[in-house]
Amino acid sequence: MKIAIVGTGYVGLVSGTCFAEMGNEVICVDVDTEKIDKLNKGVAPIFEPGLKELINGNLGKSLFFSVDIKNAVEKSDIIFIAVGTPMDSSGNADLSAVYNVARIIGKSINNYKIIVSKSTVPVGTTYKIKEIIQSKLIERESYVKFDIASNPEFLKEGDAINDFMKPDRVVIGAESEIVSSQIKKIYASFFRANERFVIMDVFSAEMTKYAANAMLATKISFINEMANICEKIGADINEVRKGIGADARIGYDFIYPGIGYGGECFPKDISALMHMSNLNGYKPEIITSVNQVNKNQKKLFLDKILNRFGENLTGLTFAIWGLSFKPETDDMREAPSIFIIKELIKKNAKVIAYDPKAIYKSKALYLKGVDVLYSRDKYEAVNDVNALILLTEWKEFRSPDFDLLKKEMKEPIIFDGRNQYCTFELEKKEFEYFQIGKK
Ligand SMILES: NC(=O)c1ccc[n+]([C@@H]2O[C@H](COP(=O)([O-])OP(=O)(O)OC[C@H]3O[C@@H](n4cnc5c(N)ncnc54)[C@H](O)[C@@H]3O)[C@@H](O)[C@H]2O)c1
Repeated sequence: MKIAIVGTGYVGLVSGTCFAEMGNEVICVDVDTEKIDKLNKGVAPIFEPGLKELINGNLGKSLFFSVDIKNAVEKSDIIFIAVGTPMDSSGNADLSAVYNVARIIGKSINNYKIIVSKSTVPVGTTYKIKEIIQSKLIERESYVKFDIASNPEFLKEGDAINDFMKPDRVVIGAESEIVSSQIKKIYASFFRANERFVIMDVFSAEMTKYAANAMLATKISFINEMANICEKIGADINEVRKGIGADARIGYDFIYPGIGYGGECFPKDISALMHMSNLNGYKPEIITSVNQVNKNQKKLFLDKILNRFGENLTGLTFAIWGLSFKPETDDMREAPSIFIIKELIKKNAKVIAYDPKAIYKSKALYLKGVDVLYSRDKYEAVNDVNALILLTEWKEFRSPDFDLLKKEMKEPIIFDGRNQYCTFELEKKEFEYFQIGKK
């Protein structure tokens, strides 16, 4: 099939590359010329395990990158819209990029196509895309038939290729079986033994994505709330987590206590869902609390540091391990590290940060202009610091050389935002160890 992907970000680039790997002819387009230039040279603009190799294996054969949306639309049978839908100032999804793309498609479409919204969009947006395309066709006095569909994406950054290549389900919202069967054809090669399509109407497909993210965010806020209660009453969330996870109805996934969820998706999708719900006359109690618990979680973590060192951090130096919002990605969108680091600096602390992949993006975008020092090595970062603060659970932080840490640090104090270490071992080595959900 000839496929165009409009928006070559985390979702568009991974989807386009995986579709190309499966033998489709794919053009990925973007308005970011620098990104497209890099991609045409085989350089991946994001870090995602396995992505660079797949791009280079298909580049110029089945995978093409361009800024020419019109040409990509004309040449393709199916067009996926995968542009960003960030949070706007009112908390709703900002759909300006989606609607811009719809207008360009309406101006460019030359024969029958299926237009698929892959971006996470509020319920009703895919029909709005249809209206926009139709209105552009009317302006052009052109009669071209097209169909629309919703195909929300469930990949997770850090394991995106794996998720896309072996999806646990592909949700397709379409107006007819003819349309859904065309989209199924593209995905059929990803299912060798057992097809896992979930076909539904367009509204339900759009809503499925929000419901999935809301469920996952709820699990995270739930365990964080349990952790906060444990801390007050003297129980240990690490034990409680094991105790509840063993119940197959609950399971172990997504019940790790921490400093709250971040990233491009959960914060903005929860906010958009609240907005969508309120707008339609239903006050959502659960997700409103999920959002509030999450916002508080990073503040509670900061309080642990301030309770230990006081409100004025003048003369103190902190090492930060981990900047990205989760491991195996360089993505720092809505990462708790941004809040923690800015607050420490506001209180006059000196901060030295280390992350295996996110330093470049931190310097260039998310902590641009913030007075952070960066280190190329995790042990170098802790040299002469008053405390180490672990914010992202990268594998390389899991079992550090604690003797070396103690030798390097001014004071052997660790604030662990991801409950990575064993209290017993650290107490034996005479560290002061603070974690989530344990006194
Ligand atoms: N990142 C994830 O893990 C993830 C997972 C599932 C779903 N989603 C959803 O997928 C969508 C895209 O997310 P992302 O993380 O890939 O975003 P992103 O910001 O990484 O990528 C979006 C891309 O769209 C491009 N773009 C913007 N306007 C454009 C236009 N008019 N024409 C062409 N390109 C344009 C941008 O330059 C950017 O490269 C969002 O709706 C998001 O909620 C994201």
